[in-house]
Amino acid sequence: MTLSINGAQKTVALAPHALLLDTLRSLGLTGTKRGCDMGTCGCCAVQVDGLPVLSCLLLTKEAAGKEISTIEGLGTPNNLAPLQRLFWEVGGSQCGFCTPGFLITADAFLRSNPDPTDQEIREAISGNLCRCTGYTKIIKAIRLSAKERAKE
Ligand code: FES
Ligand code: FES
Repeated sequence: MTLSINGAQKTVALAPHALLLDTLRSLGLTGTKRGCDMGTCGCCAVQVDGLPVLSCLLLTKEAAGKEISTIEGLGTPNNLAPLQRLFWEVGGSQCGFCTPGFLITADAFLRSNPDPTDQEIREAISGNLCRCTGYTKIIKAIRLSAKERAKE
């Protein structure tokens, strides 16, 4: 099967019921985290055709023919995406395990709602769990990102 991941074509051999999370991680895209493995924590979020999905609940074959975007496609350590930079600047990431899922979810959300209220941000990230930050700084980073994007 050929998949389009972060703009590149990847050919993978996989079992019929392989989950997208396992496929991505087997390709070395380990920024997509396995947390609960049951659709509860949001750590495994990726974008499929621009929409956030939980890769622990999606068969790989369901993503065939679509554009899959992972955290590795958002930015790099030497070239952070603006949203990543803001998470870093305001302390929206502590242990970091949840951070890729938040970034992927927030990036898709800000495309669909460029000028969100804090309540709308809270609702957008309600499927992502963080045990470190208390969420306040995550919400702040997303709010600041929306403001930055509005100036572009
Ligand atoms: S690992 Fe997919 S939602 Fe937790
Ligand atoms: S930063 Fe540790 S779980 Fe969110």
